[in-house]
Amino acid sequence: MHVIGGTASTDLAEKISRELGNAPFAVPFTKRFPDGELYLRVGGRFDGEDVVIVQSTRSDQDLLELLLLQDAVREGGALRTFIVIPYFGYARQDRRFFPGEPVSARALARHVELDADALVMVDLHSPQTLSHFSKPVYEASGIPAIARLLRERPVDYLVSPDKGGIERVRRLGEILQLPWFALEKKRIDSEHVELRLPAQAPAELAGKHIAILDDVISTGGTIVEAAKLLHRNDVGAITAACTHGLFLRDAFERIKAVTNEIYATDTLQNGAEKVSVAPDVAQLLVRNIGAT
Ligand code: R5P
Repeated sequence: MHVIGGTASTDLAEKISRELGNAPFAVPFTKRFPDGELYLRVGGRFDGEDVVIVQSTRSDQDLLELLLLQDAVREGGALRTFIVIPYFGYARQDRRFFPGEPVSARALARHVELDADALVMVDLHSPQTLSHFSKPVYEASGIPAIARLLRERPVDYLVSPDKGGIERVRRLGEILQLPWFALEKKRIDSEHVELRLPAQAPAELAGKHIAILDDVISTGGTIVEAAKLLHRNDVGAITAACTHGLFLRDAFERIKAVTNEIYATDTLQNGAEKVSVAPDVAQLLVRNIGAT
């Protein structure tokens, strides 16, 4: 078993290779042709061996690199190719909202699975995404990694910023043996949301340490509004935690201004990744495809 780390996921790929018993690890050589096209080369051959490629597809460039990597690995004689896409971009357009739109998640799924024997992703935006693949897809969760981190903190309550995150916060609450509740969220536009405490929120939040959990932090609008609402209820401290930290524009600074700490997993390389999903991804590879 070899592990190849694409440029969007080099650190995580190396950690996964270590978790797989120090599997041989490599990164591709990349450069740009004079016309701007991407050139890529993977060293060595993989004749008769399995290869795991790790590459998040946050940008269009990341996606292109992944497609080239898959082809290079097949050319290198790989027996089976397993594609780990820690953050699967375009997953939020998982259906057609208006006439004339593509189902972007499906369009990407069709192409990345062409040169794949199985795929692994982490905390997909919606289960609907899985239906767009015909090859086996295994979904790892960022929750155990976040639990490893929060276990060391004196958290009183876990909070999901919306009802869509109830299953996540319920699962984290179960692992950490902590109470949880979900806020009521109304999205105004892509950057603004309105949040309210639910009727079943604890009566006394004053002085409590709250951990807000989300799958993705994008513009930061959701976490910032959630933190402001909790501060209006006199909470003592706020930890913001997510699986995928996109942190668009000044999101990180805006969240930092209203929380005590921000944590993300390493599905994206962003400077905020404090905890790794490598053990969980490696375990899933071993369990489902017999990676050793
Ligand atoms: C929504 O369904 C997601 O779980 C996140 O809450 C959302 O994507 C966060 O986006 P933003 O940081 O832009 O508010």
